[in-house]
Amino acid sequence: MKQNNFYITTPIYYPSGQPHMGHAYSSILADVFARFMRINNCKVYFLTGTDEHGLKIQKSAEKVGLDPLIYCDKISKVFRELTKKLNLSNDDFIRTTEKRHYKSVNDLWNRLIKSGDIYLSKYKGWYSVSDEAYYNDDEIIEKDGKKITTFSGSSVEWVEEESFFFKLSSWEKKLLEFYARNEKFILPVSRRNEVINFVKNGLKDLSVSRTSFTWGIKVPKNHKHVIYVWLDALTNYLSALNYPNTKDILFKSFWPASVHIIGKDILRFHAIYWPAFLLAANIKPPNRVFGHGWILSGDEKMSKSKGNILNPQQIIDTYGIDQLRYYLMKEVSHGSDGNISLKSLERCINSDLANNYGNLCQRIFSFIKNNCNNKVKKTNKVSNSDKEIIKKTRELTNNLRNEMNNQNLNNYIKAVINISFLTNKYINDEEPWKLKKNNVEKMNNILHLALEQIAKISILFNPIIPKATTKVLDALNVKNNSRNLSFLDRKNVLAEKIKIKDLNILFKKIT
Ligand code: MSP
Repeated sequence: MKQNNFYITTPIYYPSGQPHMGHAYSSILADVFARFMRINNCKVYFLTGTDEHGLKIQKSAEKVGLDPLIYCDKISKVFRELTKKLNLSNDDFIRTTEKRHYKSVNDLWNRLIKSGDIYLSKYKGWYSVSDEAYYNDDEIIEKDGKKITTFSGSSVEWVEEESFFFKLSSWEKKLLEFYARNEKFILPVSRRNEVINFVKNGLKDLSVSRTSFTWGIKVPKNHKHVIYVWLDALTNYLSALNYPNTKDILFKSFWPASVHIIGKDILRFHAIYWPAFLLAANIKPPNRVFGHGWILSGDEKMSKSKGNILNPQQIIDTYGIDQLRYYLMKEVSHGSDGNISLKSLERCINSDLANNYGNLCQRIFSFIKNNCNNKVKKTNKVSNSDKEIIKKTRELTNNLRNEMNNQNLNNYIKAVINISFLTNKYINDEEPWKLKKNNVEKMNNILHLALEQIAKISILFNPIIPKATTKVLDALNVKNNSRNLSFLDRKNVLAEKIKIKDLNILFKKIT
């Protein structure tokens, strides 16, 4: 991995039903970091896709009477279309039914055989098809006459079959050493502790093949077995970089991944199994796994099986994509779970987007249109209140790169919306409309500074609300190669003399 290169991934989604808000959330979160790193002058590779093998998908296809691949073609397309609707800037979309992925999984399997980390035996234990996960006895309880796992609440079945095993138990100590060496491998910190405790409690060898169904990648040289869907799925992160060709420019530029964005329910797979597989195969593990919380509806995880789904498409149609992106990023604290509702969505749109950032842009642009013929020129006279807002803005932006390097998006948004709030206040206090007759120079200076503030806010908000901020930056005539964070190093975005374009309403207030 080259310095300044940044590889970020979303989980690859099961096409076992229509996409919902939880999927949208993981994807938008990853997109915001990808876009941020691009304006932070990094070369970014952003991957998303669909996870198409395993019993869960085979059963979903059977339910609607379709061949699994035809079924996956259909639903994977819906997920691919969603990337456009969510305005994701992904560089690639991978499907685990693609040839490039088979090649990569086969190679990883062979490496694990070669290293002596895989052996053949018999699996006896609990399996959840819904989670595609094995559970220990102490993770199972009985509810309403059914066995369920305490981990996710999904039902489990007893499985007994011949299986290949990965020697996970022998990686316990090395994993703990790896976590100790890489303090920020798992973020947020609370999740890191959770994982370390789990590993310290002892790891059992992991069953990595199944024989009771066929929908999967066949084990090389033993076609009775299909490879466990999680070993298959995790490898997608390598396949997209043209692994096993480790000399490939993509692989050389972007592996190890900078961060895998995932939900906390799939932390075990990413923070324990994945680095263990990779260490065993002598491939560097990713630099980080960020486990976000769940989106709740009422107090429950939003999910298809619970039937409490808010449909992202409907929200986009009614309110707009920037509105949905902003709301999810602002309201859901990324480490913990977050409740969402239409009421709080509307409140958030009105307070931050319509009344704060949107209003700031609107009032300044229309004042300049009506009073200055869209032209503003500044002089080098700087008032005390100018100095004050420049200083406060600097204080608020000082730590932003660091916040984003640690996935503290909540702090980032708070700081940027605060700059917008301060700029509105600056205009209210300075009252440029009163200077029209007697002090045009000062009026121009105030308006120019307000536009400079709007430019900075728009660049900083661009990763979160790309559509609206692009309109503003276009109207300010900010060139593409200036839409980056160099202003954090004390440069101005705008020239001294500028001509702007008209700007239409950005965010309608919801009444
Ligand atoms: N296919 C696996 C991932 C394999 S990655 C190598 C999978 N797919 S999933 O479609 O079930 O879920 C994908 C992601 O959506 C997970 O990160 C999960 O946490 C997230 N969400 C699903 N429901 C969610 C919420 N209600 N809230 C937030 N995210 C949740 O797991």
